[in-house]
Amino acid sequence: MDKLIIEGGSPLHGEVRVNGSKNAALPILLACMLVPEQVTLHSIPNLRDIATTMNLLHLLGCETDQSNGEITVRAGKELHPEAPYDLVRTMRASVLCLGPLLARLGRAKVALPGGCAIGTRPVDLHLRALERMGALMDIDSGYIDARCRRLQGAHITFDFPTVGGTENLLMAAALAQGETVLENAAREPEVQDLANFLNSCGARIQGQGTSIIRIQGVESLHGCTYPVMPDRIEAGTYMLAAAITNGDLEVVNCPLEATETTISKLQEMGGQVTAGDSRVRVRGGELQGVDIVTQPYPGFPTDMQAQFMALMCVAQGSGTIQETIFENRFMHAMELMRLGARIRISGDTAVIRGGGPLRGATLMASDLRASASLVLAGLAAQGRTEIRRIYHLDRGYERMEDKLARVGARIRREQEK
Ligand code: EPZ
Repeated sequence: MDKLIIEGGSPLHGEVRVNGSKNAALPILLACMLVPEQVTLHSIPNLRDIATTMNLLHLLGCETDQSNGEITVRAGKELHPEAPYDLVRTMRASVLCLGPLLARLGRAKVALPGGCAIGTRPVDLHLRALERMGALMDIDSGYIDARCRRLQGAHITFDFPTVGGTENLLMAAALAQGETVLENAAREPEVQDLANFLNSCGARIQGQGTSIIRIQGVESLHGCTYPVMPDRIEAGTYMLAAAITNGDLEVVNCPLEATETTISKLQEMGGQVTAGDSRVRVRGGELQGVDIVTQPYPGFPTDMQAQFMALMCVAQGSGTIQETIFENRFMHAMELMRLGARIRISGDTAVIRGGGPLRGATLMASDLRASASLVLAGLAAQGRTEIRRIYHLDRGYERMEDKLARVGARIRREQEK
């Protein structure tokens, strides 16, 4: 396993380019199984979760080629319906193969994703919605065993605007008989990107980005070439790296609309942020703690919560963070306290008393965004910070240490002995 060594205190200066979005690429790659012709995708980031998704596509019978962020997928031949536990347990998003397999084969056997560090994260909303479309679901020995004749369009209202649930149902409904209406659907930009990709393949989807999405099922889809959207969470993470080091950084290839809440929250803290033409310039300044409540999009994104907690540790005054999406997403707080942060957790709310200073220590990463939070704190802490188990970080950030070093951070990767 690898670790990161950071000597804190260097302001970041220069330019960082945002890669394609992990959370858009994952469902879009799996959606390729709906298409019997070749699909070419651009701007796919080089991440562990992408490699896992490629393995899953191969296991399910797809052929793929990959070079410099371009991936082609051919799902023409017979697909296999089974996603095994050993793969699903490494990436929960594997459950997104349910919709495509049922739509294409009428059959899917997918290991139930266990919980993960940030919460139990059940998939009951996915399963109930697919049953509404005529799928017969059985849970047997830890597997979701699903079968159907042709999926039938249905009017489905989600109890919660689930991102994965909306994505699974978009893919299932694309080839279903008749119209499907998804109410209380997720509005996330990555959901919109999936819908736009499917429409590029000949699907008939309207309303993506709103709470009501209508899908007219079609007989088949055709190949296409599609550029995946930039990663709004990676972009936001680098914006906060500039702010926490009191630097001056340009984040380029930034999806401005999708990072609006991050930008306005940073400005509310006192960060100097100017945005335009897919570029965001962030300079530090006297930062103040603020109040944050995570919400489904277009509200404040839960995937930026850990990063803002690190920033509030060094801002002046106090701030609060209420995490309403996941039930256990404050594990970074314990690690930040090892750097001297003053954080009190009470139920779903963290109270952060800012004012720093943070002093370097050895830390343990626990999940993807928590790892990013620890890197940000290490950049600001005095002295040396060591972050272990950074395979969590590699799931969602392409060589973060290289990008940060290129703009002045003293950071390197080492093998853990
Ligand atoms: C997606 O997860 C993202 N992952 C997450 O990003 C992100 O945090 C999350 O959406 C919320 O924005 C990918 O896109 C691969 P949900 P997902 O279904 O689809 C509950 C990252 O850091 N729920 O909207 O799993 C669930 O337990 C990752 O990149 C049910 O109860 O999110 C959770 O509390 C972390 N039953 C809440 O809803 C269900 O059937 C949000 O889940 C489905 C969800």
